[in-house]
Amino acid sequence: MGKIIDGKALSQIVKDEVKAEVQELETRYGRKPCLAVIIVGENPASQVYVRNKVKAAAYTGMESRLVELPADTSEEALLQQITALNNDPLTDGILVQLPLPPHIDEEKVIDTISHGKDVDGFHPLNVAGLWQGKDCIVPCTPAGIMRMLDSIGIELKGKKAVVVGRSNIVGKPVAKLLLDRNATVTIAHSRTQDLGEVCRSADVLVVAVGKARLVKGDMIKPGAVVIDVGMNRDEEGKLCGDVDFASAEPVSSWITPVPGGVGPMTIAMLMKNTIACFLSHQKDY
Ligand code: GUN
Repeated sequence: MGKIIDGKALSQIVKDEVKAEVQELETRYGRKPCLAVIIVGENPASQVYVRNKVKAAAYTGMESRLVELPADTSEEALLQQITALNNDPLTDGILVQLPLPPHIDEEKVIDTISHGKDVDGFHPLNVAGLWQGKDCIVPCTPAGIMRMLDSIGIELKGKKAVVVGRSNIVGKPVAKLLLDRNATVTIAHSRTQDLGEVCRSADVLVVAVGKARLVKGDMIKPGAVVIDVGMNRDEEGKLCGDVDFASAEPVSSWITPVPGGVGPMTIAMLMKNTIACFLSHQKDY
């Protein structure tokens, strides 16, 4: 019977840590960290995510700026907006919510954000830092997953970890973080042959493919820890993960729910990354 890794409760702990840190930073440096969040267009899911990010920032006491741009904003105008925030000494972190409208080149946008303000950890210098084992900003969802694994006290050394999904945002960075903890890591994906067999080899299974209830209980090793990064709507419009919770929960030792699992942790780790960016800009740090 799987025990639930309660992302909502854990994210509250992280946000309270950040709240205390924000107070200390204000005392020491005379101002609070400030996160700028940019959204282009009216994607309803993105609007919800962005609202939750701004809400979390307010909870921790840090400053935030929400920049809402119309869907027909030109790439040039967006890049100018980012450059202005790069040059603003009172903005510590910049997040551009993805996906962007198709006429805007996401790679160009990510490359334009100053790497020291890149709270998402998507800039090539932060990606390189992660893969070279340097101190850098780690993408929020993978960082949140590691914090969830730490919360259950699992020793990852020597364990078999399977990551299903190879995105730059989740799959690849979480695989590297698991490798850093000396897990033996396999990255599976949409072309993997016999996905069930690969998944069944996992002591720790992280699923981030964006396919509703793809991973069923019979694809899970009894006693495995299951992290579900999916956020999908099923045929009835119900929110669900990439893991079929009903069949997976009885087989696993620990499992994250959707909603209330990885999602809230992503936002909490964004707050942590904003603090890290703030500190990296202080002369005495
Ligand atoms: N869209 C989905 N996830 C993310 C994320 O972690 N950061 C940004 N900027 N956009 C996203």
